[in-house]
Amino acid sequence: SPVAPDWLRGCTVATAMDGDKPGKSVQCCPPSNTKIIDFELPRVRKIRHRPAAHLVDCNYVYKFELAMEKMKALPDDDPRSFKQQAKIHCAYCNEAYFQTRPPHDDPNQKLKIHFSWLFFPFHRMYLYFFERILGDLIDDPDFVMPFWNWDSPCGMAMPEMYVEPCSVLYDKLRDINHKPPNLVDLNDGLGANELKEQGIIFGNLSKTDQIRSNLCLMYRQMVSNGNKPTSFHGKKYRAGCRFVTDDECIPEPGGGTIENGAHIAVHKFVGAKRPPYNEDMGNFYSAGRDPLFYAHHANVDRMWNIWRTLPGKDRRDFRDRDWLNSSFLFYDEKKNLVRAKVRQFLDTEKLGYGYQKVDIPWLESKP
Ligand code: C2O
Repeated sequence: SPVAPDWLRGCTVATAMDGDKPGKSVQCCPPSNTKIIDFELPRVRKIRHRPAAHLVDCNYVYKFELAMEKMKALPDDDPRSFKQQAKIHCAYCNEAYFQTRPPHDDPNQKLKIHFSWLFFPFHRMYLYFFERILGDLIDDPDFVMPFWNWDSPCGMAMPEMYVEPCSVLYDKLRDINHKPPNLVDLNDGLGANELKEQGIIFGNLSKTDQIRSNLCLMYRQMVSNGNKPTSFHGKKYRAGCRFVTDDECIPEPGGGTIENGAHIAVHKFVGAKRPPYNEDMGNFYSAGRDPLFYAHHANVDRMWNIWRTLPGKDRRDFRDRDWLNSSFLFYDEKKNLVRAKVRQFLDTEKLGYGYQKVDIPWLESKP
C-alpha cells in the first residue's frame, strides 16, 4: 500500500543519526491541525521559470531576500515560518511519522523518505509549498526560487548571494573551507582518486580537473547509470510489510544515482565538518535550516525534469499505484493543511513552473 503519513494520530519525536554515533532526539513536529484538505493543481496562467542562482540580477536577489526575511520573521509556531519549514525535512526524514494512518499504523514502521522512490516527489512537494509561501509573503504570485546550478562549470561554487554573512541567505554552520571560489566535488573525493589512479592527475585536483570530473560524474549518474526508474528514482518503498514482499518495505531500501551521488556530495560539501552531527547541511535533521538547501534541492528537482527528456524506453516514471498514491501533508501559504499525492507532482508545468534554460555541458561528457 502507498505511504500515507497522517498527523491526526500525532507526530513523535525524531531521531538524528550520524554513522554509529548515538542517535539524538529532536522535536520536529509541525503545529497540529485536524482539518486536512486535498491538494488541487493550481490554475496555470503561464509557466514561471526558476532561475540559476549564479545568473540572477540584483533586483531578484533583493526580492528573494525580502521574502526570506519575512519568512524568518514569522512567529516560530506559524507553520509558514522558516523554523517550521526547516523542521518539515527533519520530521519526514528522521522518523517522526508512521508510514500509514490508523488502523494500519505500526510503531515499528516509521517513515523515512530518503534512499527510496519517494525522494524526488517528496522534495518536489516540499519546495513547491516553500516557494508559494515566499511568493505570498511578498504578494508576488509569480515569485520563483533559484536553483544552484552545480552541474555546470560556472555554477560549481556556492552561489554568491548565499555567502554574504549579513544576508538572510547565509548560514554560519557551513564548512568555511568550501567558500567560493572552491568548487564542489560532486564525487565527494572519489573522483579525484579515480583520476589519480588512472595517472591523469597528481596531487590536488586543478580547477579544470575538478570540472571535468564533475561533468563525467553527471553523465554517469544521469545517462549511463540512471536509465531505469529504480536506478534513477530509487527502490520501491511501500507501507506495511504485511502487504508486500519484504524487500519492498524495508526503510531506506536504496536511493537512485543522483540521490546517492551528487546530491549527498553537495550536502557534505556545504555542511560543517564538526561534531556532533555535521550541521546544518551535513545531516538530514538540520539540512533545512540552511537556505542553500532549497536551492540545492531545486537543482535536484531540475535533474528529474531533465531525466524525463533523455532518450531510452525505460527512462520514465514509475506507473506503480503505490508510488503514484503515496501522499504527504504540507501547510500551504494560507496555513491550510493539504494532502498532496505523488501523481499530482510528476509534471512541473501543471504546477506552473519550470527551469531557466541553461547549457547542460555534461550531456557531452561521456567518460
Ligand atoms: Cu531530503 Cu537533500 O535531503
